[in-house]
Amino acid sequence: MSIQINYKSSSLKTVSGNLILFVDENFTIGALKKYISKTEFSYISELLKTSDLKKNLLLFEINSQKTIFLVSIKKDSKTSDIESLGAKFHTYINYEKKNEYFVNSDSLNSKIENFVGYFLHGLKLKSYEFNLYKSKKNKRLVTVNVFGNKNKISTKNQLRFKALEEGTFFARDLVSEPGNILHPDEYAKRLNFLKKYGLRINIYDEKKLKKLGLNALLGVGQGSIRGSYLVTIEWNGLKNSSKPLAFVGKGVCFDTGGISLKPAKFMEDMTYDMAGSAVVAGLMKNLALRKAKVNAVGVVGLVENMPGGNAQRPGDIVKSYSGKTIEILNTDAEGRLVLADALTFTEKKFKPKFMIDLATLTGAIIVSLGSEYAGLFSNNDKLSNQLLNAGEKVEEKLWRMPLHKNFDKLIDSKNADMQNINYVGGAGSTTAAQFLQRFILNKTPWAHLDIAGMAFSKYGGALNSGGATGYGVRLLNKLIEDDYE
Ligand code: BES
Ligand code: MN
Ligand code: ZN
Repeated sequence: MSIQINYKSSSLKTVSGNLILFVDENFTIGALKKYISKTEFSYISELLKTSDLKKNLLLFEINSQKTIFLVSIKKDSKTSDIESLGAKFHTYINYEKKNEYFVNSDSLNSKIENFVGYFLHGLKLKSYEFNLYKSKKNKRLVTVNVFGNKNKISTKNQLRFKALEEGTFFARDLVSEPGNILHPDEYAKRLNFLKKYGLRINIYDEKKLKKLGLNALLGVGQGSIRGSYLVTIEWNGLKNSSKPLAFVGKGVCFDTGGISLKPAKFMEDMTYDMAGSAVVAGLMKNLALRKAKVNAVGVVGLVENMPGGNAQRPGDIVKSYSGKTIEILNTDAEGRLVLADALTFTEKKFKPKFMIDLATLTGAIIVSLGSEYAGLFSNNDKLSNQLLNAGEKVEEKLWRMPLHKNFDKLIDSKNADMQNINYVGGAGSTTAAQFLQRFILNKTPWAHLDIAGMAFSKYGGALNSGGATGYGVRLLNKLIEDDYE
């Protein structure tokens, strides 16, 4: 099913179709007389007497053609509550086979800016589904016509919502694709298409990476018949050369574990091990679509972690782009190897204002935080607090986890500068982050988001119906919007 939203600039009188009206927290309906018939008004008034007004969404079936929905916007609602309401409305549409709705934005005076926009945004985000490989597709199209002169969503805001939806959907599409389709060669090609939105794309293939010396990244991909890549995605929205914000993503298109092979059960989930990179791509697409007034760069490391005759072995030692040597004790701790080189590369090449990396890095973060919070690790309190705030606002929450030099001994190696796993055990997510920190060479403010528990939802969440969530696109867009634009 897809949802088409049409914005009309006129106000709405009465309609014979399904009608959505906004009301205050007490379901005060006096002001609705203008928009519904007398009989409808008295019918609703009567039923409201016995309704649970703590609810946010009440529906009144007038006849087979018409249902009236009252959406209650509580005084202290957060914008994310209103988005969830829109998503709840989607659940209704899913059950009912009605395909046209009218939204009247004139019906309520609310102080919450753009509440109609947030409602529709939640509805749209929840409607995403990935059905590319289903022979029988759900072709249903639901039209939502938005009328009203009050609470108007400006063209600029319409564009912002749309850009964010498309950015999120792009990330979800990439994450949903299986490993046989979206391998690194194909992924690099798809990112190249982002050129058409005004993004500058640079693709570093194996030959270039070898010359530069990104051997930690290359080692992970060497067992695969596919290529390994580093792709940079630049958005120059300020038309000057001020330092960009940098976003770095783990793009392991499939993670078998390599020679340190993973068990068969749930290995299929490792098709989403490129979610960090997909979020970066989705974010950059969103920035371009809404022509964000910011300079930003996305950097993604694309590899496939396979066993094979040429695969990296446990015990191998590689020299990373930073010059530091790494002893690979477990080929399944591959994400940090890809990110290590990508981070050094980003810092050196772009001298960014900050670097934020996203990665489905450790199973241990799922043990710690489940599917409610992503883990946040950072060398900078200001950046951390900005991220925590943005996360609260868009309900893509983060929980800060520790970094400390005392963890360093767990990854110091006898044979090289460091080793890629901690043999003592414990603090799996922190040691991974502590490892990454060693590749920030010039004290750039840096944050690492471990999104292993957030990127994919088996059962669905507030704003997704299950599958790829796109977690991170809205969070980082909010951070940029609030603190850097
Ligand atoms: N991609 C995995 C982490 C992961 C696990 C993501 C479950 C999403 C769901 C990562 O590459 C990995 O294999 N990590 C290992 C590290 C270990 C070998 C130190 C892990 O978490 O077990
Ligand atoms: Mn792994
Ligand atoms: Zn992995």
